Amino acid sequence: MKSPTSFVFFLIFLLLIASSSAHPGMKKQHYPCKNLVFYFHDVIYNGKNANNATSAIVGAPQWGNLTILADKFHFGNIAVFDDPITLDNNFHSTPVGRAQGMYIYDTKNTYTAWLGFSFVFDSALHKGTINFIGADPIMVKSRDISVVGGTGDFFMHRGIATIMTDSFEGEVYFRLRVDIKFYECW
Ligand SMILES: *[C@@H]1O[C@H](CO)[C@@H](O)[C@H](O)[C@H]1NC(C)=O
Ligand SMILES: *[C@@H]1O[C@H](CO)[C@@H](O)[C@H](O)[C@H]1NC(C)=O
Repeated sequence: MKSPTSFVFFLIFLLLIASSSAHPGMKKQHYPCKNLVFYFHDVIYNGKNANNATSAIVGAPQWGNLTILADKFHFGNIAVFDDPITLDNNFHSTPVGRAQGMYIYDTKNTYTAWLGFSFVFDSALHKGTINFIGADPIMVKSRDISVVGGTGDFFMHRGIATIMTDSFEGEVYFRLRVDIKFYECW
């Protein structure tokens, strides 16, 4: 080593080598390795549509009930859903899978839900699951949640899902467009 400076650079070089080989199996990329777009459709139970409903309120604050989402930005409501996933925005298109999980209204001064759900696929198109988690500030046009993992065709996949409300009909129906960008594939 000629100087202290070059020694420092040498150390940094060693650290870079060490960190790059720490996860040898991981394919980390700064651009998506896979991009998929889906829609899913949520028909909320409203006391009259038991046959058609794909989601049900299972938790409500003391000032609410399980039929109608509560006042005060639905704070305290928890809904469980089993929604059809389609490739286009038509509710009547043949579903390619199910979006299954829950949303929790967890903010008192605006409409925000916390999402935890899976896309479950079992068709010629896709087999396996994609698992999502994150805060969903519903009033924002485009919001990002985490794709924390997957199974089957999506084994060890991770990325970001951009969610947009594609249709909203009162408290009975909404449709979300989900633009999934995987940054880790396998
Ligand atoms: C279920 O949906 C169909 C088609 O949209 C509609 O004709 C019917 O009235 C609905 N039934 C109930 C109970 O909401
Ligand atoms: C649920 O709450 C809504 C709004 O407060 C009310 O109109 C409705 O009657 C309640 N339903 C039941 C079954 O208690």
